[in-house]
Amino acid sequence: MKSNNIFVWSYLEDYKKKRKKILNLVDKVFKSGSLVLSKEVLNFENNFSKFTNNKYGVGVNSGTDALRIALMAAGIKKDDEVITVSNTAVPTVCAIVECGAKPIFVDINEKDFLIDVSKIEEKINKKTKAIIPVNLYGQSADYERINKIAKKFNLKVIEDCAQSAGSLYKGKPSGSHGDLAAFSFYPTKILGAYGDGGMVVTNNKNYFIKARKLRKYGMSKLYYSEFHGVNSRLDEVQAAILNFQLSKLNQNIIKRRRIAKIYNENINSDKLIKPIEGKNNFHGYYIYVVRHAQRNKFMSYLKKNNVFCNISYPFPIHSMKGYKHLHKKKEKLKITDKLSKQIFSLPMYPELRINDVERVIKLINNF
Ligand SMILES: Cc1ncc(COP(=O)(O)O)c(C=O)c1O
Repeated sequence: MKSNNIFVWSYLEDYKKKRKKILNLVDKVFKSGSLVLSKEVLNFENNFSKFTNNKYGVGVNSGTDALRIALMAAGIKKDDEVITVSNTAVPTVCAIVECGAKPIFVDINEKDFLIDVSKIEEKINKKTKAIIPVNLYGQSADYERINKIAKKFNLKVIEDCAQSAGSLYKGKPSGSHGDLAAFSFYPTKILGAYGDGGMVVTNNKNYFIKARKLRKYGMSKLYYSEFHGVNSRLDEVQAAILNFQLSKLNQNIIKRRRIAKIYNENINSDKLIKPIEGKNNFHGYYIYVVRHAQRNKFMSYLKKNNVFCNISYPFPIHSMKGYKHLHKKKEKLKITDKLSKQIFSLPMYPELRINDVERVIKLINNF
């Protein structure tokens, strides 16, 4: 029997269509005799860095590792401060802490959920070394203003592009606006692997050389570490699949944007606030995030009708037991706190059927 459920995300429809091709790719790698950091990884590094307007790419094991290695390559170390947001996935902050640095949280804009650039300068001091703007939900932060501040205070800018592969800011690809950028290829992402994966991209040759060594114990020569690094490999199977997925990425973004357009034009529940695409952004709609003052009631109603939504993120990082010691309680993040109680995301993935989108809209309008 066919399920009546509409999930917030699923790869299964997509896999049905691509199964033969993907299994062939896996078989080809298995038969090649090389399973990690070989031809497929190199090929994907070349293709993806080009796709993001960067000269260099270093394939790693996850988006978290991509951030950590980007920070290390940029020279971020113990007791440095890194400015970012609290309305993000834990990994953004986890990577900063793993470098021994301290995350400093800046509030977000109510309109687009992204870092409020007007509040960055007041957080800068002698210890501040970098900014990690998070391109949340599929659109980019305001790099024109961020880069001006970074230049003024000599800070590195590392883009967290885990959610923004294929989106554009001022007509240029996400990942081409900072000193380095970190991508995640976790399966749910816009460019998703069938397992974990990530990449650091940059136009700076020194960062590239350092990042490449960092991903493999600080080595360039076998069994000889030049400095302390990590183990963060991208395997050949994931790279081969990602190369294939990359060829479909722009097409998938068109599908995502089509679904977003249908939501935008047809949801007319006056208390549900729809997302706004910034004037400099070409939104990739990694997720379609709405706001409602009665979120729990709204989500339960949808769930009762077999529509499953998600909250990204219900807990701002500065409120979590694991990280609240890093933030002074008196420094309020008002918009972050407020929005964390209202936001949730509607079903969104390229193969989501238009019939199902229409069913979701009907339910919303009848709430
Ligand atoms: C904003 C953001 N940054 C970083 C990451 C980390 O990526 P990964 O899960 O591949 O480690 C994610 C994904 O979870 C993310 O959404």
